[in-house]
Amino acid sequence: MRADAEAQLRAMGVHDPVAESRWLLEAVTGMDVAEQILESEGPATRRATAELDALLARRAAGEPIQYVLGAWTFCDLELLIDPRVLIPRPETEVVAQIGVAEVERLGERVGAPEPWGGGLTHYAVADLGTGAAALALALAASLPDAEVWATDVSEPALAVAHANIAASGTLATRVRVAHGSWFDALPLELRGSLLVVVSNPPYIADHEVLPASVVDWEPSQALISGPTGLEAVEHLLTTAPEWLDEAGTLVLEVAPHQAEPAMSMAWAAGFAEVFVRPDLAGHDRALVARRRADR
Ligand SMILES: C[S@@+](CC[C@H](N)C(=O)[O-])C[C@H]1O[C@@H](n2cnc3c(N)ncnc32)[C@H](O)[C@@H]1O
Repeated sequence: MRADAEAQLRAMGVHDPVAESRWLLEAVTGMDVAEQILESEGPATRRATAELDALLARRAAGEPIQYVLGAWTFCDLELLIDPRVLIPRPETEVVAQIGVAEVERLGERVGAPEPWGGGLTHYAVADLGTGAAALALALAASLPDAEVWATDVSEPALAVAHANIAASGTLATRVRVAHGSWFDALPLELRGSLLVVVSNPPYIADHEVLPASVVDWEPSQALISGPTGLEAVEHLLTTAPEWLDEAGTLVLEVAPHQAEPAMSMAWAAGFAEVFVRPDLAGHDRALVARRRADR
């Protein structure tokens, strides 16, 4: 069954047919990789074969493997993923890591929450344009004392975010969801108090050509910003100062070629310290804009 799936995936030209065949088999049989190896000679049920064929047909039609599986991992969190949300990317993990490091720099406790800990919080952070709630949950998982706001303008995306937050167990007691455009989604009482705001906003320009696997399947509202690609980045940079704590930090994902113009926008918005960090592939990816410089 797995060898046949792998052969079909290879014929489709997918990037990693071995891994994909294992994930698909796990999705239909519930067997992890070790069990699949032990059971490799066992007979496949008719139902599992039919389900696997259906998933392979979706993959053959070009649907991304993450949507076919209906799940994907981000920062060790297993998330429900479907075409209502952008597929969380590995390069976005650096935004979560920097967000956590910035909170620690500002003197707050970092680490996994105790399973018996309550939902008590004493500061707030936000993930604007949360999609599947990947960044919001990654922050909640590493910041035991944080109230985490997860916002999006897309109601369908927020339905997925709600499902992932509900499935996260005790983290859900500290994650709040709000609908609306960027900071407008947040309650006014938060103004001037957010310790850290993270966002992976849409940053593709109208004219940019994207692969079919992206443009045909992922929500355009999650990808396209406008004529320059920097519209959402600029809006966030200019509105963040009034929402952040006086020592707070904004961490924004950008495309590598946007690092320089985005840094200029951050200086113009009045941030005291501005720099860009690379992602795991070494590409400029995360813009860090601090209201108060480290001295
Ligand atoms: C690039 S996706 C990022 C999703 C998720 N944070 C991640 O990193 O995987 C951008 C997200 O911003 C949302 N978005 C677009 N315009 C928005 C706006 N004006 N206000 C709030 N969210 C917006 C989209 O719906 C989408 O979920």
